[in-house]
Amino acid sequence: MSMGERRRRVLVLAGDGIGPEVMGQAVRIIDWLNARLDAGIETVPALLGGCAYDRHAVPVTEETVDLARSCDALLVGAVGGPKYESAPFRLRPEQGLLRLRKEFDLYANLRPITCFDALATRSTLKPEVVEGLDLVIVRELTSGLYFGEPRGVFPSETGRKIGINTQRYTSEEIERVARFAFELARSRDKRLCSMDKANVMEAGMLWREELQDLHDAEFADVDLTHMYADNGAMQLVRNPRQFDVIVTDNLFGDILSDEAAMLTGSLGMLPSASIGDKSSSGRWFGLYEPVHGSAPDIAGKNLANPIACILSVAMALRYSLDMAKGAELIEAAIKSTLAQGVRTADLLPANFGIPVTTEGMGDAILAAAEDQLAFL
Ligand code: IPM
Ligand code: MG
Repeated sequence: MSMGERRRRVLVLAGDGIGPEVMGQAVRIIDWLNARLDAGIETVPALLGGCAYDRHAVPVTEETVDLARSCDALLVGAVGGPKYESAPFRLRPEQGLLRLRKEFDLYANLRPITCFDALATRSTLKPEVVEGLDLVIVRELTSGLYFGEPRGVFPSETGRKIGINTQRYTSEEIERVARFAFELARSRDKRLCSMDKANVMEAGMLWREELQDLHDAEFADVDLTHMYADNGAMQLVRNPRQFDVIVTDNLFGDILSDEAAMLTGSLGMLPSASIGDKSSSGRWFGLYEPVHGSAPDIAGKNLANPIACILSVAMALRYSLDMAKGAELIEAAIKSTLAQGVRTADLLPANFGIPVTTEGMGDAILAAAEDQLAFL
């Protein structure tokens, strides 16, 4: 099978903490796709987050933003760490990531929450609650409380201070992410649950109204339900399989996706895709990254689970690089690796079994990918 009709460019932003280690394994997979499937993917390394701050005193340089513009997809490892907590707020590692999301208008953040059969007993929830779980959270990513103005810390009337952030959504911002979520639901089980706080927030009331209007006008074939986000948080652990696609705002999506991650057994398993409008070529430009953070406590020890980062490569192949077959192959290789019992430390109970290293997991996935070739 050859996929090499055109070159594809991927900007590799390994970042901080465990980022470089998990990214190392993701790049091995890309090299393998090039060697074995003629994928023609060029990887271009650059700095994002704390490592960029150390070198250039900003979490992302203009050169890197320009470089990103010349690529088909961006791959991020992880950013941040305790070392940067005293850096000025606007120069923190996280701001580099927020800048890229905003600069490229990547308003739809997809977080698939899938429980692999082999890991059903690893969740803190009962296996019968999480077995077969397959839902997607669509998080609005470029507006809301993360970006709303006014924002800042100001002197207050009492002579002390006041911290301000603004929850703000326009109809257009709600409609475009809603459309994305409806289309995704339509391609799956046709069920969409929208989560908001319409009971206490005007922005939430508008969110609900826009969702319902779009449903009635264009997506009546999709079953739309509305839930208050606090109830949604509870329902996610009570009976997560009731959900197919969840759509929610930037802050609720941040919180609910970390909660949902635990349903899969480990935060080390979750990839994400952040995408905007389709380009004229019919592809999405996107930023792909694990949901987990930089995990400074285990950084540099060859312990981290690279699966979330490798699954993020699979998402990039599917949405931005027009290589769905490559994505399926990687996902099948991971499934088979887990079924064989290969586990990094995060996937094992304490003091039980022998974990493989980050690199060992990469080796096992590559070997399983070779086996998968036979099925193509
Ligand atoms: C996430 C992270 C980010 C966020 C941080 C690193 C800025 O928690 O992607 O979920 O809050 O959006
Ligand atoms: Mg988060």
